[in-house]
Amino acid sequence: MTNAELPAPYGEPVAAPASPAGASDGARRPGRVRITHLQQAKDQGRRFAMLTAYDQYAAEVFDEAGVEVLLIGDSAANNVLGHATTLPITLDEMILFSRTVSRAAATALVVADLPFGSYEVSSHQAVESGVRLLKEGLVHAVKMEGGAAYAETVRALVRAGIPVMAHIGFTPQSEHALGGYRVQGRGESAQRLMDDALALQDAGAFCVLMEMVPATTAREIDAALRVPTIGIGAGGGTTGQVLVWQDMAGLRGGRQAKFVKQYADLRGALSEAARSYADEVRAGVFPGPEHLF
Ligand code: KIV
Repeated sequence: MTNAELPAPYGEPVAAPASPAGASDGARRPGRVRITHLQQAKDQGRRFAMLTAYDQYAAEVFDEAGVEVLLIGDSAANNVLGHATTLPITLDEMILFSRTVSRAAATALVVADLPFGSYEVSSHQAVESGVRLLKEGLVHAVKMEGGAAYAETVRALVRAGIPVMAHIGFTPQSEHALGGYRVQGRGESAQRLMDDALALQDAGAFCVLMEMVPATTAREIDAALRVPTIGIGAGGGTTGQVLVWQDMAGLRGGRQAKFVKQYADLRGALSEAARSYADEVRAGVFPGPEHLF
C-alpha cells in the first residue's frame, strides 16, 4: 500500500510538499497520521504498522510505502552506531536521528525513544528530555520503557503536551537488570504486565508497546486496554506490529530473533552491488564513456 492509498481515517488529502526545485508535483497525499488515528484503528478493529527508521532515505521509503508510524528507536545504538546494547546512545544522538527522520516523513506519525538516562531521575528530567525530542528532534511523540513505576512520569509528560507510547515486557534498556534478552510476562508475571499496561493507560499513554511477551498475554492485554497496543515478539493479537527495519529488510547479518520476519535480502543485494562496483573499477570498466564530462 502506498501512502496515497492510506485508509481515509488517516486524514484529509493535503497538497504534496513542494519538490526540491520548488514546484509541487500536484499529487495529493493523505494528511499526517495522528495518535487519534491509531485510536480509531483500535476502535474499528484495524491493524497498523510501525518500523524503526534512523536516516533520511529509509524514512522516505517507509513513509511512501504507507507505514503508519516511524520509530527512531534507541536501537540506533546497536543498528547504526555499532554499540552492543541500546544503553550508550545519548539524547543528543537521538535528537540528530530524530530530526533526520522527521524531516523526511511527510505522512507517518514520528515517535522517538527517550534513551537510557534521560528520564529515570525524575519527571522533571523526563519532561525536559521529551521537550527536546519534540522541539529539536521534531517528533510527534516519545516512547518510554518502564511499567507502573513510571506512571507518574507518563502523567507529567502528557501534562506537558507530550504524547507517550509506553513500552513494557522486555525493555532492552534494563537488559542487565533482567538478566539478558528474555521473554517477560510468563506465568504469574502475566498479571504484573497487565497491571503495568493498565496503570500506563490510566496515566495517559496513547499506546502500549509490548516486547517479547507470550502471545496469549499480549492478546489479553490488548483486549483489556482501551488504547491501541503494538507488539514485537508478542504475537498477532496486538493492534499494531513493529520491527527494526534492518531486521525486516535483511540488512543485519547473523542470527535473527525468532519473532523477526525478513522481507528482503538487502545485505545480499548491497554486497553484490559493492562487489560489482569494485570489480568494474579494478577492471577499468567504470567509469564508462557515458559517465564522462
Ligand atoms: O528501539 C527500538 O527499536 C524499539 C523497538 C523495536 C520496539 O524499542
